[in-house]
Amino acid sequence: MDTQKIRPDFPVLSKKWNGKYPIYFDNACMTLKPRQVIAAMDEYYTEYPVCGGRSLHKMAKMVDEKVAGSREKFQKFLGAKRHEEIVFTRNTTEGLNLVANSLDLKKGDIVLTTDREHNSNLIPWQMLNGKKGINHVVVHSAPDNTFDIEKFESLMNKNVRLVSMVHTANLDGYTIPAKEIIKIAHDHGALVMLDGAQSAPHKPVDVHALDVDFFALSVHKMLGPTGMGVLYGKYHLLEELAPFIVGGDTVSDSTYEYTKFLPPPEKFEAGLQNYAGIIGSGAAVDYVEKVGRPEIEKHEEKLNTIITDGIKDIPGLKIIGPQEPGSRGGIISFTVEFPKGGDAHDIAIVLDETANIAVRSGAFCVHSWFNYRKCEAAVRASLYLYNTEDEARKFVDALGKTIGLFT
Ligand SMILES: Cc1ncc(COP(=O)(O)O)c(C=O)c1O
Repeated sequence: MDTQKIRPDFPVLSKKWNGKYPIYFDNACMTLKPRQVIAAMDEYYTEYPVCGGRSLHKMAKMVDEKVAGSREKFQKFLGAKRHEEIVFTRNTTEGLNLVANSLDLKKGDIVLTTDREHNSNLIPWQMLNGKKGINHVVVHSAPDNTFDIEKFESLMNKNVRLVSMVHTANLDGYTIPAKEIIKIAHDHGALVMLDGAQSAPHKPVDVHALDVDFFALSVHKMLGPTGMGVLYGKYHLLEELAPFIVGGDTVSDSTYEYTKFLPPPEKFEAGLQNYAGIIGSGAAVDYVEKVGRPEIEKHEEKLNTIITDGIKDIPGLKIIGPQEPGSRGGIISFTVEFPKGGDAHDIAIVLDETANIAVRSGAFCVHSWFNYRKCEAAVRASLYLYNTEDEARKFVDALGKTIGLFT
């Protein structure tokens, strides 16, 4: 992959902060935006900044055409059978909440998750425990931090209605064996939802081949505009789901007493939409597909190997998750012992101040995993297609110096 060709597309990479170019390793949170995505949104705002889905004038029709184009791009990107299976949302969180709130879960139904869920795939189930009496059961990882398929299978029973799991964890980059999990869940009559926030932007995903029932992602984690996400659902399941947020654009007719909802995806896309965002999202798909997800995956593994090899022997440093970089995609999270005081946040601040390296520190919205282990916080470097081998080596060097200040 030719990062030198890619990097000029990202205006922010040529903006110096304190006289230095940034090294951006916070991609699991939000990725940078290429000029192609910015231009697509600019075009909407300058040429046809109007509503879609309602009016019949030329500008509105242009919006409809562009929105339909973006939907088809996501259909192909995810391997969905129909474009109606793609629902535009604000983010992964909204997609997961939509399914959690719209599925007819009842008292006693069980929802299974992994032990490394982002709060977005944990709190909805805790809320439903309080509201409806559903049971949330956690499948704890095996001692080597991989998915414990035997434990999972032993927890399956007729009350498990939904298996809702993080496909690739933002905690450590580990990807669960989704196909095997889905097969087992289906054999027991359960539905499966994958949180694809960290998988779809980084590796090929084919929802049809996986046979997954629901799949949520955030477009701002794959070069797209902020506040944009996609929920995929099998069409017949989307048809059965109750609408979540309701109002304009979700119905074909209403009286004072009665409402006739539109079919999916419209019944889930209430009110005027983020048209610039949807159009920019289509441009993000084009960009990621042009580079190619198999190439992105290989590239991240190469950089992850440089970083892992460079930091794994630092005394007191522990990498979270499987130890071999090939099992952690583009993510390197670690804790450090701090004999002289200081914490993960200090490491992140010093890296930023001294070397312009942007990483994340804290619990990465996976507080449950940290609390269970009585561990406070970690540092996370997360990679994407514009990061270079040189940046990976600079990170190793800067981290060694930074940790030296605290040990
Ligand atoms: C695995 C995972 N799931 C869900 C989310 C939530 O994404 P968003 O905030 O875009 O809804 C994130 C964000 O970091 C994530 O990494």
